[in-house]
Amino acid sequence: MIQQNHKRGLWATRMGFILAASGSAVGLGNVWKFPYITGQNGGGAFVLVYLICIALVGLPIMLAEFTIGRKTSLNPVGAFYELRPGTPWVGIGFMGVLAGFLILSFYGVVGGWTLAYMVNALTHSLDQFTNPAEAGKFFGSFIGNTGEVIFYHAAFMGLTIAIVIKGVHGGIEKACEILMPTLVLMLIILMIRALTLDGAMEGLKFYLYPDFSKLSGEAILLAMGQAFFSLSLGMGAMITYGSYLPPQENLTSATLYVVLFDTLIALLMGLVIFPAVFAMGLEPTGGPGLVFSVLPAVFTGMPLGWAASILFFILLAIAALTSAISLLEVVVAYFIDQKGWERKKAVLTMGLVIFAIGIPSGLSFGLLAGFKPLGMNFFDHIDNIATNYLLPIGGMMTAVFVGWIWGTEEAHKEIERHETTFRWAAYWEFVVRYIAPVAVAIVFITKIIPSS
Ligand code: PFF
Repeated sequence: MIQQNHKRGLWATRMGFILAASGSAVGLGNVWKFPYITGQNGGGAFVLVYLICIALVGLPIMLAEFTIGRKTSLNPVGAFYELRPGTPWVGIGFMGVLAGFLILSFYGVVGGWTLAYMVNALTHSLDQFTNPAEAGKFFGSFIGNTGEVIFYHAAFMGLTIAIVIKGVHGGIEKACEILMPTLVLMLIILMIRALTLDGAMEGLKFYLYPDFSKLSGEAILLAMGQAFFSLSLGMGAMITYGSYLPPQENLTSATLYVVLFDTLIALLMGLVIFPAVFAMGLEPTGGPGLVFSVLPAVFTGMPLGWAASILFFILLAIAALTSAISLLEVVVAYFIDQKGWERKKAVLTMGLVIFAIGIPSGLSFGLLAGFKPLGMNFFDHIDNIATNYLLPIGGMMTAVFVGWIWGTEEAHKEIERHETTFRWAAYWEFVVRYIAPVAVAIVFITKIIPSS
């Protein structure tokens, strides 16, 4: 195994690292998916379950990933190999790199949609819809338009490549230091706009009223899956970001900040979307439609809606971009560490290959819409394999690895390298060994049994 650490780079500041890791976590999962699944699954009751999943599974696994990364200063494949050479555990690393590859292939397509909507908002092309049906028709014809979809997909991947090619500090850290505060500022402005609309209270009620009767077993599975995807866990993204940490970094507080930040952004997003949707007298319909088909109609109907629309779609594009960066970095780090490639070669080659693999996903709603092996289009298949299988298996195996194979004692030593005292060590050791693997296994088994 090649280890050329001089080629890898390091975060320059603690803040830069926290913003980059938060940038990875805060993505389409927070802005689009969280509010929608919360609204459909019992509002406040679902939020409660989600928070429990974050505390029992998300938090411990994130700390486990950061710890593996900082201990080894390597990508996921190199990291598992270094800690247990010659064992099958390296497979978890390979699965992670594969997941990064697959997720980015379709995430880049949706990233392209966000760029297109940003441009449409800026050129006032979205200001014409008086109802969601019109906005939905516009969305449907856009995602079916081969030329436009590929153009924006390429543009989004181009941006991702341009940032990652500049390296950990010069590219990722600098970009996130600008983009993340911008995102927060936009979110606050949008929240104020949404909450001061007449009729905003109805939306708040729908969003936060804890309706325990809607809290099905399915909702609990959704909450767990969402916790993984939202925190970027299970594929070594946080191992990779942790691997660029200098040894004196306090891992436990960094974990708390990133988890808190991600959760807060998800919760606040709901405070933007539901008050706005309800105040405009619209229905919070589900699926990808909420952001792309309903919101443009919401913005058209509200005072200063054009400005809100511009801010929202810029925010969405930023959220997608800072997550895409981390997905590409996992793949790139593998080729730099394990294959000895130069960063430039790794970024350009893998960026282009991932773009190419993403093309059929991009065409899944147009040219290839009729191609549905096993009842799902290409886009949904890739999403399903990566999100529903690779991430939970990867996360569970990471917990088992740290809890039982590498051992919490070794991990604890790494966490306490230099003078930090790990105050919640007993809690972490317990959840990482027992709760997290068992919880993921239960969720995973329940998920696959009904379909088998
Ligand atoms: N956390 C991102 C989101 O919420 O959209 C998605 C993601 C990014 C998942 C990076 C996994 C990952 F490694």
